[in-house]
Amino acid sequence: MKQYKLHVTWMVITVGILSAQELKNVQVLPFETKKDLMVYMKTKVAKSLGVKCNFCHNIKDYSSDEKAHKTIGREMMKMVMDINENVMAPFKFDPISCWTCHRGDESPERDIADTKEKKQHKH
Ligand code: HEC
Ligand code: HEC
Repeated sequence: MKQYKLHVTWMVITVGILSAQELKNVQVLPFETKKDLMVYMKTKVAKSLGVKCNFCHNIKDYSSDEKAHKTIGREMMKMVMDINENVMAPFKFDPISCWTCHRGDESPERDIADTKEKKQHKH
């Protein structure tokens, strides 16, 4: 019994260390596991901007903040969380996401004039 307890304690400590090391520099996102974070990166972040992971990341070290796109992305994540918590939730609206503005484009249109400009360029 004592041996069993020791074994369990050892496992709990090991799993604790491993999961703590799994995500090194995650300051705003609420994900507990790397798996959940990866799903968000692939299906939401990269797709919404129409970019690959290396647009924001040094793919040899995903925890590095050396690319400005990543630090901008982090501020965008804070903005989206803030809007959802303080604007959408109180009105019981579904949450917004990167896609709400970006729609597969790294540089979303900001004003109705942008749309006109693009349309004019087509002619
Ligand atoms: C638009 C920029 C952007 C793109 C594109 C992007 N990421 Fe991220 N990623 C971030 C930001 C910002 C963080 C840190 C979030 C935080 O601080 O809460 C992050 C964190 C991570 C982490 C955690 C690293 C650590 O600190 O341990 C991993 C892993 C990761 N991203 C993988 C990916 C993968 C794989 C892709 C491509 C499918 C991808 N990311 C695409 C912005 C991006
Ligand atoms: C309310 C609208 C809005 C939402 C929501 C939004 N963005 Fe943005 N984002 C913008 C605008 C506007 C720009 C400026 C684009 C420009 O000037 O080229 C921008 C720029 C960026 C850039 C810099 C792109 C570049 O080419 O330098 C990144 C990275 C980015 N957003 C990531 C994200 C991510 C990740 C999310 C979701 C967590 C997100 N954004 C949600 C409006 C939004």
